[in-house]
Amino acid sequence: MNRIYMDNGASSRVDDEVVKEMLPYFSEKYGNASSLHSFGSEAREAMENARGKVAALIGAKPEEIIFTSGGTESDNLAIKGTAAAKCGKGDHIITTNIEHPAVLEPCRYLGKIGYKIAYVKVGNDGIVRAEDIEAAITDKTVVVSVMHANNEIGTIQPIAEIGKIAEKRGIAFHCDAVQSAGKIPVDVNKLGVSLLSISGHKVHGPKGVGALYVRKGTAIEPILHGGGHEAGLRSSTENIPGIVGMGKACEIAKRDLERNAAHVLKLRDRLIDAALKLEEAYLNGSRETRLPYNANFRFLGIEGESLLMMLDGMGIAASTGSACSSKKLQASHVLLALGLPEWQTHGSLRLTLSKYNTMEEVDFVLGELPEAVSKLRSMSPVWRKLKMGGRIEDVHGKHIH
Ligand SMILES: Cc1ncc(COP(=O)(O)O)c(C=O)c1O
Repeated sequence: MNRIYMDNGASSRVDDEVVKEMLPYFSEKYGNASSLHSFGSEAREAMENARGKVAALIGAKPEEIIFTSGGTESDNLAIKGTAAAKCGKGDHIITTNIEHPAVLEPCRYLGKIGYKIAYVKVGNDGIVRAEDIEAAITDKTVVVSVMHANNEIGTIQPIAEIGKIAEKRGIAFHCDAVQSAGKIPVDVNKLGVSLLSISGHKVHGPKGVGALYVRKGTAIEPILHGGGHEAGLRSSTENIPGIVGMGKACEIAKRDLERNAAHVLKLRDRLIDAALKLEEAYLNGSRETRLPYNANFRFLGIEGESLLMMLDGMGIAASTGSACSSKKLQASHVLLALGLPEWQTHGSLRLTLSKYNTMEEVDFVLGELPEAVSKLRSMSPVWRKLKMGGRIEDVHGKHIH
């Protein structure tokens, strides 16, 4: 069976060019970048070369790039590191209610140890308003963290506008650009950010490597203490093969950005136009202000997880916002943030594209989708009630429709 991968928001295929570039750093050029011998300088050179490529993708200077183990660590370093640097001077952090757990969880942790966290709400288009961020600022705010593109619904946030506000107020501004870097233009100066997270595996690079952009002069403390690697901000022997791979992936992403974005936009629009013709099918999040790589639907009356399994059986890999934890189907915090009733959030399907997807694949998915949805609806009590104009109960028996 030919498998179709439309879950690139979760992780992406490593580009062949990237693999080729990485391979010698496992078996021939395996030195420690801190070593003084030729093996060490070989590794160091490769790392600095990669740093330049990562910096170029986001309009930064190479010395402003700190390599990490991925987007999660970059987000943790940005938030905990700026909070620690301002210890005693402020205890207030601003973020949004649609961030990735890699931002929400460090905030929750800081909340447990005494910080106050403001979770600014997005509109039902999945976009936060810059003025709402501004209104949340206090004289105790140490960092504002707002993602560039949302990982579930692909909506793009007004980062440049928020950047201007943060700069005016002299507050560190962190942006999680894990889903946007390499897919749409990301320029740290145009966006006005002080910190920006990216990850290798979302842009056809390897897993387990990422970077944090730290604007010169930003007050930040490390969260990993040790030998003082990465300008003292991230101790631990550098992952040279990973870093080399990430550098190459960023170089390719920059080179092909426009062409790839135009390609996936055509695929995405075909997916959206056709899927929305199905009965009771909706797009989650703004269509206009959204990554060309992302389509996220909700089909009322079905469970996303069942649809996922059915599509997987047909060789189609996708994802959903709902996750089954113990006995209860856990609603996505992002879809709830759009103001949807919980029962509607359960029927979501996320299709995230890459340069490797083709129009033939899109047509195959569109050929299978209607039958999968109608099969699940034929077994769904929620759908039956919806069609009869009845009340829909949630799992707790509460009236919600
Ligand atoms: C928006 C966003 N931030 C952070 C992360 C975490 O990145 P990593 O998997 O590299 O730790 C992800 C991964 O899904 C993401 O989508």
